[in-house]
Amino acid sequence: MNSTDVIIIGAGAAGLTCALIAGQRGRRVVVLERASKVGKKILISGGGRCNFTNLNIEPQRYLSHNPHFCKSALSRYTQWDFIALLEKHGIAYHEKSLGQLFCDHTAKDIVKMLLDECEHANVEIQTDCEITKLECSSKRYCLYTSKGQFTANSLVVASGGLSIPKMGSSGYGFELAEQFGLNVHPTQAALVPFTMTDVHKDLCERLAGISVPVTVSIEQQSFREKMLFTHRGLSGPAMLQISNYWRPGVTLQINLLPDNDAAELLKQFKEKHPKSVLRTLLTQYLPKKLVVELEQIVWLGYADKPLGEWPDKQLFRVASTLNAWALKPSGTEGYRTAEVTLGGVDTRQISSKTMECQTQAGLYFVGEVLDVTGHLGGFNFQWAWSSGFAAGQYV
Ligand code: FDA
Repeated sequence: MNSTDVIIIGAGAAGLTCALIAGQRGRRVVVLERASKVGKKILISGGGRCNFTNLNIEPQRYLSHNPHFCKSALSRYTQWDFIALLEKHGIAYHEKSLGQLFCDHTAKDIVKMLLDECEHANVEIQTDCEITKLECSSKRYCLYTSKGQFTANSLVVASGGLSIPKMGSSGYGFELAEQFGLNVHPTQAALVPFTMTDVHKDLCERLAGISVPVTVSIEQQSFREKMLFTHRGLSGPAMLQISNYWRPGVTLQINLLPDNDAAELLKQFKEKHPKSVLRTLLTQYLPKKLVVELEQIVWLGYADKPLGEWPDKQLFRVASTLNAWALKPSGTEGYRTAEVTLGGVDTRQISSKTMECQTQAGLYFVGEVLDVTGHLGGFNFQWAWSSGFAAGQYV
């Protein structure tokens, strides 16, 4: 029997942050991790360089049924606090674009930094540790595991979401929450590529590898980033971002010419180049392969007609496709490739100051297991650091 002050389930970004902060306060902390290595998602993130935060962290960049919940933790441990920690450890970083910060060398630097901090704070970490049973009596939590029995007054659930099961993800945190009578919002794979069926799948397959800057929208939500055609459907940052807002059956509006009013542009083409075909002019703006495919779908009968012979109605039809191409995905690639899980433990039952459950003393939730999901670009790691820090101060 190992008796301690704090048990943390999961040695990911949120769990390790919580551990080191609690350890610095002199709390005896044990982290239980079922995988063979800690911080696996940190290591694979950002193409191995970890997009660890964003210069423009703001609550509006997070989705939750309780949108105010994230504000407190994000304001008490900010991107600048995490940057200061990196600088203390001499880790070089750079801004790639849109405020996204990446390590200059490798994401391993971040895992090493967290482990060094944990070691300094006397945190004990058990890897390859499978939890078989959890009991709670007289405000004490007892976990039966493949590495023995652990008891503590504080239990922190930092087991993450469901994305990339082969990285160690499990639904354990959600099951545990339900065991204690907490509500869990339905989960969905997010920051994930879309899949297509039928003719649209064939189209995407033919265009696979082509990337174009677009604005993609669902109702009022828009993202202006790159879209990538894949063998299965659509990916790239624009599609990952909008996937947070997508639900089955919803149609995406894709603006292929986000810098232009297509109707105006086509009108000018017609006036200035009445003898040209549209294909020749549009390839100044879009990849030729894409123009040729669009031609087959939208203006087949006019493909080889000089623009001067086009009726305005036909020009308008093409313009509306270029500025608002409507595509309905058949689904997403799911948790196999999703970066995050939308939904999760209902934050209305959790203190935004301490991350402690309001109905169950000593039980804390941090990171992705909670119903807080960030946009692409370092927002999810910042939530993990901030929520881990918040709980670490109180466990
Ligand atoms: P995380 O999933 O990191 O950690 C949970 C830990 O709990 C894991 O180590 C898991 O093995 C362990 N665990 C689960 N069940 C358990 C159990 N029953 N017992 C014991 N341990 C258990 N975000 C971002 O901001 N910038 C980026 O660049 C990226 N890039 C990125 C790439 C890819 C491929 C993915 C999949 C995800 C990202 N993300 C990201 C998202 C980011 O990785 C994610 O938001 C954080 O890792 C969440 O941190 P947590 O600590 O909450 O969960």
